Amino acid sequence: MSGEDKFKILIVDDEESMREFLEIMLVQEGYRVTVAHDGEQACHILDRESFDLIITDIRMRNINGIGVLKKAKDVDPGATVVLISAFASAETAVEAMKEGAYDYIPKPFKVLDFKRVIRDALGSRTGPKEKGVGPKIDLHFGSLVGESPQMRKIYDLVERVSQTRTNILISGESGTGKELVARAIHSLSERRDKPFVVINCGGIPESLIESELFGYRKGAFTGALIDKEGLFDTAHGGTVFLDEVGELSLVIQVKLLRVVQDRTFTAVGGTQVKTVDVRFISATNRDLEREVIDNNFREDLYFRLNVIPINIPPLRDREGDLPLLAHYFLEKFSMEMGKDIRKISTYAMDILNNYSFPGNVRELENIVERSVALERSKIVLPDSLALSCLRERGLERINRTPDLGPEGIRLDEVMWEIERDYISRAMEIARGSKRRAAELLGINLRSLRYRLEKAGFVENDGSKGYVGGT
Ligand SMILES: Nc1ncnc2c1ncn2[C@@H]1O[C@H](COP(=O)(O)OP(=O)(O)OP(=O)(O)O)[C@@H](O)[C@H]1O
Ligand SMILES: [Mg+2]
Repeated sequence: MSGEDKFKILIVDDEESMREFLEIMLVQEGYRVTVAHDGEQACHILDRESFDLIITDIRMRNINGIGVLKKAKDVDPGATVVLISAFASAETAVEAMKEGAYDYIPKPFKVLDFKRVIRDALGSRTGPKEKGVGPKIDLHFGSLVGESPQMRKIYDLVERVSQTRTNILISGESGTGKELVARAIHSLSERRDKPFVVINCGGIPESLIESELFGYRKGAFTGALIDKEGLFDTAHGGTVFLDEVGELSLVIQVKLLRVVQDRTFTAVGGTQVKTVDVRFISATNRDLEREVIDNNFREDLYFRLNVIPINIPPLRDREGDLPLLAHYFLEKFSMEMGKDIRKISTYAMDILNNYSFPGNVRELENIVERSVALERSKIVLPDSLALSCLRERGLERINRTPDLGPEGIRLDEVMWEIERDYISRAMEIARGSKRRAAELLGINLRSLRYRLEKAGFVENDGSKGYVGGT
């Protein structure tokens, strides 16, 4: 980039060292930089000149960062403004977002993070304005989001297998999108106008499953007052989705094998052999091969169902899909809730990037939904997101079946460990702000101070833990 087509940036900061530092860094990056030493000077400059990006400190004498932001939006409603804020002014940052700031960078920041926000902010100017500021999202087969090489392989497979009648076994951790993939295959196949019948193998009581699947004849058992069709009758011509197939008992596995093998079945209490035309797609989050070795799953049924295996990778292994999915859900939920949130702040995205998502896409979906519900500004800030992630993990722990072991535990020590973990994580997310950390933990500031001291996070000698902040 040279001369005229360089991006123009205005830096506003009343602290000289910071101003110089930012100027040198941005000039090195190849931007045309103008500096203002306070809000007032910035407003004068904004009256005469326009910029691609305005970076302003929030806390300044006279006219502060919000003032600069308002002025910039006044002269050009499309102006892109990024604010730099210290911990103490987190509230002001929220206010700034409401006024239409593009993003905010908390102090202290890493140079790499800073450059990323700047590039992101400038990038948003080149796209069509009203289309939002998130990445462009394509839906595959009308429902699947993600462009990672791992997911592309799956789209490819989905397309190829959809044209056949071959049975498919989809494996993957919980929440990876197994059912979505199964539905995609059905909707691409010649069977698309026929039923897609979900059989929740883990959810139907053992005593009912046979009559649910195969139907029953009048008088087959007490209460069987009329003939009733089963799920296989309903599914004729379509696709049967055997969800959580690993949950089937060995008895039912035998009955199912017959349908999978010969495509025939008999209603409970009936004699007539019925023929059915269905395609089987099964799903499991267990290692079914292992279940076969352990004699929990019939080998013959396993081979019949698993003609083509599709393994969906966990979200944490998909390169580049997280931001796409996050923005997809953001758009979906802000529309549903009638909110105008179009962006996830860079720092909020960092929190997501550092999370392992044991619940995969479903967990991400839930986190974004809650964040949108909680968010008061126009952009998802770390606060609302962190709250969701933290709550999620809290629940995970609480729901876990406690492992006492033969030796028992020391409850005080365990509770103490959990407390320490949460406190240090909350302080991390709150970037040292005790007030914010206390909010995240649902306790008051005094209680947090007391616990910090107890946990040995010394306040003022800087040797350990968290210094400063309010
Ligand atoms: N690639 C994707 N793009 C968009 N949404 C997705 C994607 N993958 C999963 N989802 C969404 O995540 C949620 C979970 O997906 P789905 O029910 O298909 O997962 P699953 O693997 O069957 O989960 P479980 O093992 O818990 O049954 C759904 O709301 C689904 O719409
Ligand atoms: Mg499922």
